[in-house]
Amino acid sequence: MPKMSSPVKSKAAKRLSMEVKAPRSPSRSSSSGRKVATPSKKAPSTPTRKKTPKTPVVTPTTPRYRKKFVEEEDLSSDSDSENSSQLINSPQKLSKRFSADIPDPEDIEKSVKELKDTAIPQNQTKKAYSIVHKFTGSLGGNGAGGPIYGELTIKSMQKVVEMMRQYMEFDSSSRFIDVGAGLGKPNMHVAMDPKVEFSYGIEVNPERWYLSLSNLKPLLKASLEDEEMGKNVILEKGDIFAAKSFDPFTHVYMFDIGFPGKLFEHLAEIFNKSAVSKYLISYYGPKKIIDKLGFEVELLFKLPVSMHGSGEGHTGYYYRRVSSSSKGKKKPSKAKKALKLDEVDTLPSDVPCDDLFKDAWRRVIKGPEETLKWTTETLGDFEDSERPSRERVQRVPYNV
Ligand SMILES: C[S@@+](CC[C@H](N)C(=O)[O-])C[C@H]1O[C@@H](n2cnc3c(N)ncnc32)[C@H](O)[C@@H]1O
Repeated sequence: MPKMSSPVKSKAAKRLSMEVKAPRSPSRSSSSGRKVATPSKKAPSTPTRKKTPKTPVVTPTTPRYRKKFVEEEDLSSDSDSENSSQLINSPQKLSKRFSADIPDPEDIEKSVKELKDTAIPQNQTKKAYSIVHKFTGSLGGNGAGGPIYGELTIKSMQKVVEMMRQYMEFDSSSRFIDVGAGLGKPNMHVAMDPKVEFSYGIEVNPERWYLSLSNLKPLLKASLEDEEMGKNVILEKGDIFAAKSFDPFTHVYMFDIGFPGKLFEHLAEIFNKSAVSKYLISYYGPKKIIDKLGFEVELLFKLPVSMHGSGEGHTGYYYRRVSSSSKGKKKPSKAKKALKLDEVDTLPSDVPCDDLFKDAWRRVIKGPEETLKWTTETLGDFEDSERPSRERVQRVPYNV
């Protein structure tokens, strides 16, 4: 492997700010037992291009759903920054908030307990992490010389995937966006397992994004030679403020601790406008996400996770869009109007896509050679643009 990791480590990596430290993973992951999400009755169907999953066939389980009406809970008991290894999905705390059809807290509790047996990183996921490790240190944490906040351990991320698989219809037909993708860990992880149809990361910080591309390039190269590895991943530099909706993503993930208020307002607005974005993962509870910001979602469950390094744990909150009959009818036409869908595009005609994400999706549809080409070229362009101008001038006669 060429030592292109060194510029990464010595330049951009060192300049990255180290926002948060993290604790050891509270629980272990272990053996297989994959489960498949069971769509809830209430959930609107998401138009997706179905394809044959390449992941091993797994035994579906049917989470039991709470069907009866339950009362509104006391919001004051809901801490946004809850950090827990305690039992956080207790019926008392979780189920009172929503009306019907949410996963039974007892099932959630059981699933969480079983994660030590069910949330086992697959071989291709481990391979992806190890490839990236060679370039920027252990994916996420040490890659930039220390822990970068918001980066889950591989085990914690696998737990996230497992719970999404069981309760959020997360599979190879899903389209996943990480808002503020950092070094790209969640994107690469879900590209490997469950090999989502489209794994897209957007990161506004150029240096962090540069590192993410440096991670992704060797991984995409390896994936061309290894059928088992997922390939549908692309990481772009950009500002999510440029998006008018989250379409075509079915799953919106954001490690949003510390996001500024204006950004949250924008995220809520575009999530609510989206036609096909059904699931949301945030690290804030319903008090902020639903009551304050107005995301049109309901809480399904919460899950404690551990961050890289030796610092802290956080709680992820897993939400599902609330479908109201009136909104359900209006949303698609609204989205189409805003997006001006192009019917002769290579993009699926039945899935709305915000302009911001179209090029990336086209590339992923074209295939891994295309995404690798784009990643390599974009990386090169960025390195050129970062080079001091004197150096660039010197290169001219050399090249001529
Ligand atoms: C906590 S990090 C998350 C890293 C990554 N999602 C993960 O879980 O490993 C949050 C990231 O959001 C990025 N971010 C903040 N505002 C953004 C915006 N408007 N558009 C895109 N990215 C943004 C930050 O630069 C930062 O890298």
